[in-house]
Amino acid sequence: MIDELAELPLRLDADRARVNAELEGLFEHRDVGAERLEAAMRYGVLGNGKRLRPVLVYAAGRALGASDEDLDPAAVAVELIHAYSLVHDDLPAMDDDDLRRGQPTVHCAFDEATAILAGDALQTLAFEYLADAGHVRLGPMVRALAQAAGRDGMAAGQALDLASVGNALDVDSLARVHSYKTGALIRASVRLGALTAVPETDPRVIALDEYGAAVGLAFQIQDDILDVTGDPATLGKASGADAARDKPTYPSLLGLDGAQARARALLDDALDALAPLGEAGAPLAALAKYMIERDY
Ligand code: IPE
Ligand code: IPE
Ligand code: MG
Ligand code: MG
Ligand code: MG
Repeated sequence: MIDELAELPLRLDADRARVNAELEGLFEHRDVGAERLEAAMRYGVLGNGKRLRPVLVYAAGRALGASDEDLDPAAVAVELIHAYSLVHDDLPAMDDDDLRRGQPTVHCAFDEATAILAGDALQTLAFEYLADAGHVRLGPMVRALAQAAGRDGMAAGQALDLASVGNALDVDSLARVHSYKTGALIRASVRLGALTAVPETDPRVIALDEYGAAVGLAFQIQDDILDVTGDPATLGKASGADAARDKPTYPSLLGLDGAQARARALLDDALDALAPLGEAGAPLAALAKYMIERDY
């Protein structure tokens, strides 16, 4: 475990480089003529993101024996969905943010209509790319991704998030918002990695689902914490934005210490869930720790 933690930065860099190369390839040989849309999609997805969802795809899939080549389609697909979600999340009608990944948000760098279309097209490209790979478990993989992105996942969570502005939610309701808006796609990233390797009936897929649910919620709790404690130059986005918009968050509900304690408890849940994987789960354990200790 200690060794895995020591090696994690290196593997993060390698995985990021791997998925970035795949993502760049998506923008080669395009001749439709919608250059502004293409440029906005590129800008939205190729910026300086952490690529944590692809990293989770690779880590979960490798833990169950999949090759990096076989994991590329799911890694690309989850990052495309994530990039789309950020483009739309930043729109004036949603969080109305100007800065993302250290540069102007897509609607600021281009315009609102182009940002909406770029988000739409990034989302559908995720499914196109996954379909093209033609994995033997394509059906369950598409279902997992669609559920995580749509009305049973992120879109529902974003609707609940917007509806919660100015409301004092209780902690269960807030956990629900966060699990839908952010947790679902993180959980799906782990699941897609797992399904690349083994069928959904494999008990390790269930163990990894529990892991994914715990780290997915913990990740958004840390995002809330960083909105209070983070440095915008490091974050690459504004801090203090949640309080300014009167969004219910873990720190606003439980205080910073309470929010941190909740994230730690979820880390313990995630580590417990990895038990059936034995030593093979060590990189995922290190990643879970990274997700709640990160400073951006
Ligand atoms: C930010 O996600 C939005 C949330 C779901 C909390 P990340 O923190 O993973 O953003 P990038 O991809 O690194 O920019
Ligand atoms: C984002 O949550 C959830 C998404 C589905 C994109 P936030 O609105 O807190 O994410 P940031 O802080 O803008 O990155
Ligand atoms: Mg938001
Ligand atoms: Mg936001
Ligand atoms: Mg946030």
